[in-house]
Amino acid sequence: MCGIVGYTGPRQALPLVLEGLRRLEYRGYDSAGVVVLDRDGAAPQLNLAKKAGRIGNLEAFIDTGAVALAGTTGMGHTRWATHGGPTDRNAHPHTDMHRRVAVIHNGIIENFVPLRAELEAAGIEFSSDTDTEVVAHLLSRVMADGPTAGDLPASMAAVCRGLEGAFTLVAMHLDAPETLVAARRNSPLVVGIGEDEMFVASDVAAFIAHTRNAVELGQDQLVVINPDGYEVTSFTGGEPDFREFHVDWDLSAAEKGGFEFFMDKEIEEQPAAVAQTLLGHFDGSGIVLDELRLSEDDLRTIDKVFVVACGTAYHSGLVAKYAIEHWCRIPVEVEVASEFRYRDPVLNRDTLVVAVSQSGETADTLEALRHARRQKARVLAVCNTNGSQIPRESDAVVYIHAGPEIGVASTKAFLGMLTANYLVGLALAQARGTKYRDEIAREYEELTKIPDAIATTLTLMDPVRKLAQEISTAKAILFLGRHVGYPVALEGALKLKELAYMHAEGFAAGELKHGPIALIEEGLPVVIVTPSPVTDPLLHSKLLSNIREIQARGARTIVIAEEGDETVAPFADFLIELPKVPKLYQPLITTVPLQILAAEIARAKGFDLDKPRNLAKSVTVE
Ligand code: F6R
Repeated sequence: MCGIVGYTGPRQALPLVLEGLRRLEYRGYDSAGVVVLDRDGAAPQLNLAKKAGRIGNLEAFIDTGAVALAGTTGMGHTRWATHGGPTDRNAHPHTDMHRRVAVIHNGIIENFVPLRAELEAAGIEFSSDTDTEVVAHLLSRVMADGPTAGDLPASMAAVCRGLEGAFTLVAMHLDAPETLVAARRNSPLVVGIGEDEMFVASDVAAFIAHTRNAVELGQDQLVVINPDGYEVTSFTGGEPDFREFHVDWDLSAAEKGGFEFFMDKEIEEQPAAVAQTLLGHFDGSGIVLDELRLSEDDLRTIDKVFVVACGTAYHSGLVAKYAIEHWCRIPVEVEVASEFRYRDPVLNRDTLVVAVSQSGETADTLEALRHARRQKARVLAVCNTNGSQIPRESDAVVYIHAGPEIGVASTKAFLGMLTANYLVGLALAQARGTKYRDEIAREYEELTKIPDAIATTLTLMDPVRKLAQEISTAKAILFLGRHVGYPVALEGALKLKELAYMHAEGFAAGELKHGPIALIEEGLPVVIVTPSPVTDPLLHSKLLSNIREIQARGARTIVIAEEGDETVAPFADFLIELPKVPKLYQPLITTVPLQILAAEIARAKGFDLDKPRNLAKSVTVE
């Protein structure tokens, strides 16, 4: 939520900052703004441009030449509004009254109300409704007067100590012309190390075109950058906590590569996402989770698993429940992270909490895992973002190697999560001895065949695209499934809601008769995720009855079935046949047509697939 980028070095800052902002726009697109420090005039000055709406609006404004934005130190912000509506006036950067300091912010400053009241009582006039602006005024004040006066890092540290909530803040000040100072608490911040130039950003995507050498920072850290390098300190007085790393993907991974939307590209990348996630996790004799800092002994004593996550990641957890309970014979509960910590769940040392998160930043999931750790549970993160906060605070991490996911609606990361969750289940089964080594080897081998099956599935999607055109004007669409097909139905409905802004619901097909069947009316499209008649004949026959029931009531049945499933064809108004894969792995295949359906309906309605309204990629507020 909110993207920030800063640059200092020998080059003009504006084009680099704008380029970074474009790469971070997935984080929020309510407004955008930049500030550049100009040292060429009689006196240095901070020049700003900010506009409500997408970065395109800001660029169009800059192109009018209304503001001169020359200078080699600058920063920019793309906003997902929290405090204060998405207007020009609330767009970041924010400055103090004399425009000596400029600040950008990602997160929420929870104590901004008393801070603002105190500043206003002291005669400060505010020019926005944001929580962020208090920081600009506070920083200006401590830089001008008091024990840290004139010392930008020390002043910033003093201000941060007085803030409550979550924040990444970046500030620049006229008295430190080549310097940016940035601080983080519970919000992401990375540093990019270039040649004689430095970057700060919410995400390495902002500077990957210029350097792949980066620094991740721990909690409550403050970093000062200038063209010569960086220095990290803790603003609460602890030890500096940071790590340099090399980004293992390149610019092409963060670019559209000829696709209309990132989401189109990310859907196509799914075979690779699954293959990469599997890579290196089997050493010939068993599953290896090399980022696992829990021993086999630790895993053996686990007697209960909770999966906590949000949205799409939560759906991956629902699938994991079927696999882990089946393989490991231990109870698994799956819970949305925002509910988990508020209901006093029963946790102890023998509980494994699996926190699943693409971004590794989701505030609800982070707080859930902190709650779990306070109760002494072990926490394992499944995550796609190296160095993000959720893995940092976990006892163990299994990375999804899906590569950067820019489209706000999650696609390839979902398949990556499913895959990583299966690996966690197999590792648990191995440690607990509930599966023989050769059975585990067979499961892994089956998993390695899935990328090809996904690739085949992707070649079968043209009829689904045509169908999407036909049903794009429907009032609503329902999704049904059983067993692992049920979370897939939920995920299909979520994709449609967020991309096409259509009313969509996912149901366990068996629940239909207990209420939702009342929704069925003539012509209502209902998508049914059908299990295999070969591997699951019992459930298959139950689902056939469910399809008949809704077809008899006029629904238009869109059936996703295994190739060669002849029994289902008579009840399908539209049949999508997909490659055969083992029962537990079907979600890796059956999700694909639902992603395409949602994407194509959204496209038919003229919506932006990458930036659905009201959403942001990383939800860093609760
Ligand atoms: C839906 C979607 C969201 C995320 C959720 C959790 O397409 O992307 O529902 O899955 O906000 O995000 P992460 O996985 O980053 O914790």
